Amino acid sequence: MIAPYEFKTLLLGSNNLRCNNSPASDLKSEVVHIHLTDYPIRINTSELYLSSMSFERLITKLDDKERYWRSIEGKTIAVIGYGNQGRSQALNMRDNGVNVIIGNPPDEYRKTAEKEGFRVYEIDEAVKNSEIVFMLIPDEVQPEVFSHKIADNLKQGSAIVFASGYNYFYDLITVPSYVDVLLVAPRMIGFGIRDLFLKGKGFPVLIAVGKDYTGQAEEKLLALTDAIGALKPGGVAVRSSFKEETLLDLLTEHTWAGAILYMFRLYYEVATELGASPEAIILELYGSGELAEIAESMKQQGLFKQLKNHSHTSQYGQLSRGRLFANEKVKQLIKKMALEILDGTFAKEWTLEQKSGLIHYKNLYKMNLEHPMEREEEKLYRLLGRIK
Ligand code: NAI
Repeated sequence: MIAPYEFKTLLLGSNNLRCNNSPASDLKSEVVHIHLTDYPIRINTSELYLSSMSFERLITKLDDKERYWRSIEGKTIAVIGYGNQGRSQALNMRDNGVNVIIGNPPDEYRKTAEKEGFRVYEIDEAVKNSEIVFMLIPDEVQPEVFSHKIADNLKQGSAIVFASGYNYFYDLITVPSYVDVLLVAPRMIGFGIRDLFLKGKGFPVLIAVGKDYTGQAEEKLLALTDAIGALKPGGVAVRSSFKEETLLDLLTEHTWAGAILYMFRLYYEVATELGASPEAIILELYGSGELAEIAESMKQQGLFKQLKNHSHTSQYGQLSRGRLFANEKVKQLIKKMALEILDGTFAKEWTLEQKSGLIHYKNLYKMNLEHPMEREEEKLYRLLGRIK
């Protein structure tokens, strides 16, 4: 076992992926070879194709609702975790008349669940007392919690519901053969799920059956999607797969969501070099909240159709210059990232990173928090009363 502090540079097996940890100046420079095969990730090949479904792909309401709800009638649902997703989904299901209990270790989340009137158990006890288990703790801790506290306590014919495809798709969790495996993955933050529910509105969710042991997995899937409030007006369930959900989720993070952060850095560097003020730049980029307005317009009007809200000069500039960033090279990079998600390369790297003490992760954070833009942002946000 190599202690995390011994790493300076990691060369990850045969594909030669490098993680440089340069700021650790007090460390002796050394290269440690770690083979990816030491941390095998098997891909769950039960679903080979994306969305190769014969049913309607989009569901906005359940016809013959009773038929689906019968599959969960009289069943107790254990929501494991009372954080972002756990709290909102548990409250929505309880308000919809479902018998919900919570499984949580002793901490602040547990106290909140108790205060909000739930019966809270240790995780293994909650699983023993239920027929449906919602896995709503962080993805990184799920494999260990599952193998130590959940797997052996699942009853024959029960169901486990994931909100993210990652652990099941990469086979980091092995569910006993006598349990249904479902995916109900909201495309909405936890707070939004509760807020929309209280306003009588639904939200988008990707759904899939991973394993149908009981022959009732489909009915349970749709009943539970309805029970958390997704199918209220405005909501939609998209038939998906663990594979598709994992691909789309990670591909967002690896491409535009990450790129926008670094693009803003480059913009800042160029504009300050040309004499622009840090405050004006930060407000222009994201500090004003205009970005959120644009995102809302994309949601309401469409990606390109929302351009009409901008001046003609702006429209022409975006259409003609923005295009230069979307070239064949970038497309190939996106494709490479997609393939590295599907073949498990990224998952292996991330597992290794966690096992080796998150050195690269911490260094990337540190490097970014040391950028001059961060200090300017802090000054501005303090002035505006956003931080104390
Ligand atoms: P979270 O970070 O809010 O989870 C906190 C909960 O996990 C607390 O109840 C805490 O007691 C429990 N917990 C933390 N560490 C634990 C451990 N070692 N052992 C046992 N319990 C532990 O989680 P979040 O963000 O709600 O994510 C839950 C699932 O939902 C994940 O699979 C995530 O990918 C998925 N998801 C999350 C979304 C979000 O908006 N955050 C959106 C869609 C899906």
